[in-house]
Amino acid sequence: MTLPDRVRIVEVGPRDGLQNEQASISTADKIALVDGLSDAGVGFIEVGSFVSPKWVPQMADSAAVFAGIQRRPQVVYAALTPNVQGFEAALAAGASQVAVFAAASESFSQKNINCSVAESLKRFEPLMAHAQAEGIQVRGYVSCVLGCPYEGEVAPSRVRDVSQALWEMGCYEVSLGDTIGVGTAGQARRLIEAVSRDIPRASLAGHFHDTYGQALANIYACLLEGISVFDSAIGGLGGCPYAKGATGNVATEDVLYLLQGLGIETGIDLPRLIAVSRRLTAALGKPSGSRVTRARGG
Ligand code: HMG
Ligand code: MG
Repeated sequence: MTLPDRVRIVEVGPRDGLQNEQASISTADKIALVDGLSDAGVGFIEVGSFVSPKWVPQMADSAAVFAGIQRRPQVVYAALTPNVQGFEAALAAGASQVAVFAAASESFSQKNINCSVAESLKRFEPLMAHAQAEGIQVRGYVSCVLGCPYEGEVAPSRVRDVSQALWEMGCYEVSLGDTIGVGTAGQARRLIEAVSRDIPRASLAGHFHDTYGQALANIYACLLEGISVFDSAIGGLGGCPYAKGATGNVATEDVLYLLQGLGIETGIDLPRLIAVSRRLTAALGKPSGSRVTRARGG
């Protein structure tokens, strides 16, 4: 398989990243982050989530973040939504797209969204109908695709079933999430082979957390499998509050460095992204989780 000429980066730092930060970050800093990302050329930004503030207090100000950003015409400003209530809030906030999320593991589904996998899929049906009526595209996430914090190994066939369900209900793309960052390149390749029997590779995305330091290797393995959309978080921020011990997403700067070395275009300016990352880590008061940003002095 030849490598793609271009990769679409889905920047999940403002959502997947900040949802797990202990330090409180102001709404103004979140707005500055989103605007800095679009200035650096990021074309797809997950700005926040419309979930219960009791479950994820860090995302409680997502509507205010949407209200404060300076929108660029070509940029997709997406929101994570678990149910119709969240969808309506995202729509009111002006999200250009939404994402729903299901898990390949029952225990994780219960801990994360308080219902079974089947119930979660059922919950998405009215959301999908609403979205279709409003002309809003819906992205689907599957969590725990290469391991579950409660159940351990997850069979590719389970990932395949949940992915297919999301695809069949109308998600235009399915993002495969190694929520706890345990997967390896061989597993990633086998997973893509399994899931792509039902869903075209052009409609699959990789979402890797970097707990075991395998995320870049997994992305490379997916590139070789014909995947050309990857989720990442500036500064390697993130994690899921309901996946204990999982570290951040793979850092966007590090993914860009890998892709630049392969001659793959993303439209993102690396030095500008690093500058945004520096401002963010200063606001958070901790060192950057990106190797590239650290190598470039901070
Ligand atoms: P529940 O308690 O079972 O829901 O939570 P409920 O329907 O019984 O409602 C309870 C309360 O929540 C009610 O308020 C509702 O109004 C409110 P009360 O009457 O008690 O005051 N509520 C909401 N509030 C705001 N926005 C909403 C909403 N829905 C209900 N949309 C629920 C179920 C799904 C709401 C909850 O479990 C939840 O919000 N979970 C979100 C968890 C989350 O955000 N996890 C992180 C994102 S997933 C992730 O990070 C993985 C990913 O990155 C991919 C990967 O890495 O694999 C995507
Ligand atoms: Mg994630």
